[in-house]
Amino acid sequence: MFANFMAWIDKRLPVTDCWNKHLAQYPAPKNFNFWYFFGSLAMLVLVNQILTGVWLTMSYEPSGDGAFASIEYIMRDVDYGWLLRYMHSTGASFFFIVVYLHMFRGMMYGSYQKPRELLWIFGMLIFLVLMAEAFMGYLLPWGNMSYWGAQVIISLFGAIPVIGDDLTQWIRGDYVISGATLNRFFALHVIAMPLVLVILVFLHILALHEVGSNNPDGTEIKKKKGSVKPEELSKFKFHKHYTDKYDIVDAIPFHPYYSVKDIMGVAFFLFIFCWVMFFAPEGGGFFIEAPNFEPANGLKTPEHIVPVWYFGPFYTILRVVPDKLLGAVAMFGAIIMLFALPWFDRGTVKSMKFRCTWHKVNLFQFTISFIVLAILGTKAATPLNNLIGTIASFGYFGFFIALWFYSKNENTKPVPERVSK
Ligand code: HEM
Repeated sequence: MFANFMAWIDKRLPVTDCWNKHLAQYPAPKNFNFWYFFGSLAMLVLVNQILTGVWLTMSYEPSGDGAFASIEYIMRDVDYGWLLRYMHSTGASFFFIVVYLHMFRGMMYGSYQKPRELLWIFGMLIFLVLMAEAFMGYLLPWGNMSYWGAQVIISLFGAIPVIGDDLTQWIRGDYVISGATLNRFFALHVIAMPLVLVILVFLHILALHEVGSNNPDGTEIKKKKGSVKPEELSKFKFHKHYTDKYDIVDAIPFHPYYSVKDIMGVAFFLFIFCWVMFFAPEGGGFFIEAPNFEPANGLKTPEHIVPVWYFGPFYTILRVVPDKLLGAVAMFGAIIMLFALPWFDRGTVKSMKFRCTWHKVNLFQFTISFIVLAILGTKAATPLNNLIGTIASFGYFGFFIALWFYSKNENTKPVPERVSK
């Protein structure tokens, strides 16, 4: 009966074909490691944010007078409201942890290089929208850090010559941050941005399945048709979308091999996620900051206005530049550098395993610089912190510039034709 039902559906909508093409018969390299968990985990967190967000919205009040109190109401009176809120707030921080690790994997294995540039660009657009989404969500509890954080970031646009003042007023919808700002951020946070995110993730996966996954060795598992001896072809059945165009080697079908492996990743992830959510939902003051337990107050500035940790790297870059406009340019420049990574890297070898020592040192110093920038973003701007921040900012930008130079004529190790294990 089920087969007949599916046949009826498939004649009208290619459900089975889509399932096979994008999941069951998708050829995934057989050497995926730990770092390949984070794509599916990012999807899991996205679903968590959307579902808990919908339920939070049922009890949240998007107004200057009611927002803070409605969060307290959710925490104390709504059945399991505390759980919904902590799933959502912990989810926001974990989203960034997962996405940063996911991006770092791409950098280690050169997954942004040809032919995956567009896949990377979609990823970067996701990252940009995710930051906007988190920034707007952070205003909604209408705590004092929400208020002042938004004040600092929106006022940055005021540094733009000529149109700056009008632009900030247009963004706020008022002369100061007010209920009008909260209302529009609410609309953007609950519907506009999530919609864009979901569409971008869809395009990200479509682009991935057009070019195929990279792997820790940075080799291609799809070879020119007819170039591989029949006995070397993967023994598994893959969707004709892939086998019509290429000879597939060193691959296994996504389902059941990676669907099952990913469930293991999910179990590990949930273990850590639940521990934080149940035992340390404030994340030591990093996930929910202390001033946010007080309602927004335009007359009382928090002692140190610092963003949530995940904006730290970019905020530090902004802060160490003495001029406001140049600081904003440097901050947006830091994100543009990441967008342009596929073009900064002129090398042809993908995985860092087979790249020159310079590259390993460079990636290592970039990682340290990034972590230092993130930590400093949550600390007060003392002269010492600013000095360290300036050095780390040079490390950040230096990564891209150095890469552009040494990647042209790089001394690489020979890349094996086939994956190593
Ligand atoms: C909501 C956020 C995101 C979701 C749900 C997501 C989802 C995925 C999934 C499911 C995969 C395939 C599995 C894997 O390789 O881990 C993948 C691959 C990839 N993603 Fe993302 N992604 C997100 C954000 C990003 C961002 C921000 C970037 C980089 C700027 C990025 C770059 C890549 C690259 C380069 C690959 C291919 C990796 C390879 O084959 O080695 N993604 N993504």
